[in-house]
Amino acid sequence: MGKIIAITTPKGKAGKTTTAINLAIAFALSGKKTLLIDLDTAGSCAVSLGFSKDEVANKLFDDPKSEISLRRFILKTVIEKLYFIQIGRLPYLDTQKLGETITNELILKNILEPEKSKYESIILDCPPHITGTINAGLIAADSVLIPVVPGKLSIASVRRMIAHLNTIREQYNPELKIEGILLTMYEYNNNLSFTFKKELFRNYPKYTLNTSIPKSATVKEAAAKKKSLLIYHPNDKAAKAYFRLVDEISERKLLFNSKGKV
Ligand SMILES: Nc1ncnc2c1ncn2[C@@H]1O[C@H](COP(=O)(O)OP(=O)(O)OP(=O)(O)O)[C@@H](O)[C@H]1O
Ligand SMILES: [Mg+2]
Repeated sequence: MGKIIAITTPKGKAGKTTTAINLAIAFALSGKKTLLIDLDTAGSCAVSLGFSKDEVANKLFDDPKSEISLRRFILKTVIEKLYFIQIGRLPYLDTQKLGETITNELILKNILEPEKSKYESIILDCPPHITGTINAGLIAADSVLIPVVPGKLSIASVRRMIAHLNTIREQYNPELKIEGILLTMYEYNNNLSFTFKKELFRNYPKYTLNTSIPKSATVKEAAAKKKSLLIYHPNDKAAKAYFRLVDEISERKLLFNSKGKV
């Protein structure tokens, strides 16, 4: 049964999309049949995988009353074992704010259910800000990977994310686990990055991953060329870190405490 990992954090520009794409590719290249789902309307995943945005604009939810089948819209990518779908806007959910009653919360879980057993991993790239779409992702997910960039407000954003995960766990998805907190855009030889990493490990020793993704100019270069990092430059330091991340995630035991809280 495929594990659904949501890549999410309330902070924008934290490396969610870069992590979702490259983690999905690294999983596929390691032999795991993988489905990458873009829950953001921006279309960045599509472009990095060589599709045009129009090509993936799908009619999934055009008629909310019709029976929704994901399968018709899943695209095979040029990477063996990697499949892709852009879902973008979920009906009724995209304007929902944190704290509002969640409506239509099972929509994603339900449409993923028949596909789950066909993949070994399913990666959800979530939009920034916690809205109904992210909640639907968290309700469908088995675990959450929280990317974080060194910076003053970043620990607070992790704290907010974890508090929100506890709410989702209490009300909707008691089995939801934390895959890990992933430090991205890490700058070696930079004092701020170093101090931040120490603080992250001190605050979240069980959840912070040993792998961090270094800051690398090649990431932006690949994006400018509309390519994914792992295909554009698999030997780049950030690309190698994504391969290490797959190893670490595959070996890791996921935790939450006996009260079901983190
Ligand atoms: N390891 C890295 N080194 C250098 N630049 C990076 C790295 N990871 C991501 N970036 C760049 O940082 C910016 C934000 O990354 P990304 O789009 O992955 O974040 P995001 O959290 O998905 O953003 P959003 O909140 O807009 O969805 C992009 O320009 C991306 O190319
Ligand atoms: Mg993004």
